[in-house]
Amino acid sequence: MSEIEKRQAAAKALEEIQSGMRIGLGTGSTARHFVELLGERVADGLDCLCVPTSEVTAQQAASLNIPLTNLETIDRLDVTVDGADEIGPGLALIKGGGGALLREKIVAAASDQMVVIADASKVVDALGRFALPIEVNRFGLGATRRALELVLSDHQAEGALKLRSDGAGTDFVTDGGHLIFDAFFGRISAPEALSLALLNVPGVVQHGLFLGLCKRAYVATPDGVRTLND
Ligand code: A5P
Repeated sequence: MSEIEKRQAAAKALEEIQSGMRIGLGTGSTARHFVELLGERVADGLDCLCVPTSEVTAQQAASLNIPLTNLETIDRLDVTVDGADEIGPGLALIKGGGGALLREKIVAAASDQMVVIADASKVVDALGRFALPIEVNRFGLGATRRALELVLSDHQAEGALKLRSDGAGTDFVTDGGHLIFDAFFGRISAPEALSLALLNVPGVVQHGLFLGLCKRAYVATPDGVRTLND
């Protein structure tokens, strides 16, 4: 996806933002454009209050003087604007490629609407080609891995689980201090059942299937931005 298309999708979502709104700020390269554009509106006088979904986004927003709060101070948001790794039927999503899935899901679930911004390459007929991120507690990692392998086998995963590395030989650690397994399914035919099975593993903190959360997606194509509704 070109940066131009990411920005076009972000600009479309920005059209929904009105003064006084409470906004969840997503994480990733597409959400980054939205935060940048929102910063311009704030500089022009837009009144808003935002909750970031990661430390990276919090830093970006703070650098743009976007007013920030948290979900201890306020308990509901009007809208969250975030990217996605895959957008499947019914606007079911895979998220967490950047590792922020836990905060992203908490913030999306606390929002009246979740709006996704992406390019057309993210739209799929069935979820699962992108590895599903599963955030786990460090404690009992071996036992969690074995339990997850059973879930993968029950759901006909094509590949194995891989503990995410930060690229420098050490484990990737989330903002919450957890680790991530990436699970290679190939095709997820029963997302709801898979979601329940994963959450049933005690060491699982959260997974990257976002089901029933996204209301609208702005998908940038070379011919313009398409709107998908759930
Ligand atoms: C972050 O954890 C992810 O959920 C991102 O929102 C998702 O990976 C999309 O990122 P890009 O916009 O960079 O593709």
